[in-house]
Amino acid sequence: MAKTFTVWSLLFILSFLHAASMGATADTQIKVANNPADKLVAALNENRTAHKDSSLTDNPGLACLALQYIKAYQGDCGAVGGPDAKKPTESQFAEVFAPTCGVQASTLAPITGRFLGCQTKYVHAPEAFSEILIRNQKSLDILYSKNHTQVGAAVTGTDGGSPYFWCVLFSNGKPNSTFAFEGGVAKTTKPGCYSGANDDCSGAHDWSPVSVMWLFAVSVSIAMGFAFPL
Ligand SMILES: *[C@@H]1O[C@H](CO)[C@@H](O)[C@H](O)[C@H]1NC(C)=O
Ligand SMILES: *[C@@H]1O[C@H](CO)[C@@H](O)[C@H](O)[C@H]1NC(C)=O
Ligand SMILES: *[C@@H]1O[C@H](CO)[C@@H](O)[C@H](O)[C@H]1NC(C)=O
Repeated sequence: MAKTFTVWSLLFILSFLHAASMGATADTQIKVANNPADKLVAALNENRTAHKDSSLTDNPGLACLALQYIKAYQGDCGAVGGPDAKKPTESQFAEVFAPTCGVQASTLAPITGRFLGCQTKYVHAPEAFSEILIRNQKSLDILYSKNHTQVGAAVTGTDGGSPYFWCVLFSNGKPNSTFAFEGGVAKTTKPGCYSGANDDCSGAHDWSPVSVMWLFAVSVSIAMGFAFPL
């Protein structure tokens, strides 16, 4: 009985992993970059439009600030929520985050909402959205607010691994002219991934969900060999 259960769970897990690896293959063929931050924005906009709210422009300058926002926590998951919750001061946007991103400080616009999540286990963007970031009515109010015109998302592990931080920043600035990169070119600030810049976030020495996918793909092809004859 226990054995049957194990076999069925294994088959279930394998088919899930297989589907996941097929998904990864399909993603590399379309133009959308394989970037968990982009996927988070996609999940968020899908949810907003299903709720008849506008789809928000993904602003890479804002997203890069979201990545620096995460880094301000220095990997301290405990500082994100609970009684000791802290958040970076407003002045850090202009003094630290913008210069690090190469975003012109004169183009900063008001932040109209933010989500921050931290988790020891890496989950994919849709789960990060529904299970970590959107937890209560307050977060739903922020998600569906008509005050936002644009959004930026970021994700990064700490020292190449757990814990993983997710951050979403919303703003009401004009998408084309706010959070603008100097010279109009998005600057990469590793480690971590941010949305809107069309990069696939797969640097060899950085934490990278692409290499996680490779691990999955490899374990599937080995495990399939012994699972199929059952
Ligand atoms: C939007 O997200 C919230 C929170 O995860 C969820 O409860 C709701 O069902 C989602 N709506 C749609 C249409 O997916
Ligand atoms: C939208 O902006 C108004 C004015 O700044 C503010 O009072 C309100 O709380 C905001 N709504 C949300 C959901 O943040
Ligand atoms: C604003 O952005 C849209 C699409 O992102 C683009 O088509 C348009 O040319 C931009 N406008 C200006 C003034 O840059």
